[in-house]
Amino acid sequence: MYNEHDSVLLNESIQALNIKSTGIYIDGTFGAGGHSKLILSKLTRSGHLFGMDRDWLSIKIGKNIAEQDKRFTIIHSEFSKIYQHIKHMGLIGVIDGILLDLGISALQLNDSSRGFSFMRDGLLDMRMDINTGISAAKWLAKASQKEISTVLKMFGEERFANNISKVIVKYRTHKPIVNSVVLSKLICDNIPHYSAHKHPATKSFLAIRIYINNELEEIMKILNDALNILSPKGRLVVISFNSLEDRLVKHFIRKHSSEVSIPHKLPLTQCQILNIFYNKHQLKNMGKLIPKKQEIKNNIRARSAILRYAEKLIL
Ligand SMILES: C[S@@+](CC[C@H](N)C(=O)[O-])C[C@H]1O[C@@H](n2cnc3c(N)ncnc32)[C@H](O)[C@@H]1O
Repeated sequence: MYNEHDSVLLNESIQALNIKSTGIYIDGTFGAGGHSKLILSKLTRSGHLFGMDRDWLSIKIGKNIAEQDKRFTIIHSEFSKIYQHIKHMGLIGVIDGILLDLGISALQLNDSSRGFSFMRDGLLDMRMDINTGISAAKWLAKASQKEISTVLKMFGEERFANNISKVIVKYRTHKPIVNSVVLSKLICDNIPHYSAHKHPATKSFLAIRIYINNELEEIMKILNDALNILSPKGRLVVISFNSLEDRLVKHFIRKHSSEVSIPHKLPLTQCQILNIFYNKHQLKNMGKLIPKKQEIKNNIRARSAILRYAEKLIL
């Protein structure tokens, strides 16, 4: 069961990290440990890897590895709290690479009791950490129609957000929506099937998951913290699976790697000039990669993956 997840862009992401065998690395999305295992295989005894995940199932897998390998530590936490963990260990500014493989793992998606999949009948939970926050079912029971519609629009870019939110609110006056397949069917029955390749509930399920797990804020927080945590020449590698995630990563890297031109004779102090330069130009944009055709053929989840990476500059 633990090997159900095929790591996406596995070799490419480890190459993008440009691993130093004695370096200190963070896998912020440990999942089933596929990327972590490959990182560990590149480290000598003096290297170290911290794996993080907010899901207890991943922590269980990570603990098994940590028990046998002193170079590995598993941390149960949202990755937005990375700064606190790294500060606590006195490692700010010395991390050689951070990897983020965003979204959920196949372990989570394929477990019907988690409610992530519109294809599997299960309780509509959708929390990556089942002990934190509220489940999708509870949220759907209390959210206003406007709130549901906004979430579907903002986080799923669902053009039928209004129709879907109306039928949800109407349905729940008779019966609570606590089941993934019930929600999926409700959506299917009430909006046009505009793509033969995409299930009509895809965008709504994604939107609700992103909202319930506060995923976009989590990403913004870790990206900003990465600037402080990484060592000079340290690498940030992020694999995204939807356009919202990818846009955040793309803009963040561009913003912090843009060239600054300060007009000549501008009355600025040296300190002000350094501040402008430091805030704008902390990363070198290393570009993006997408999976090869063969990988997509073997693992359909890879089809929407985009890897972006950047290097922290020596200032
Ligand atoms: C795509 S999977 C990672 C798979 C992993 N790279 C592998 O090869 O097995 C994403 C993992 O990140 C975790 N995750 C997502 N967002 C998180 C966050 N904000 N904080 C901590 N873990 C998170 C999920 O629980 C899931 O286990």
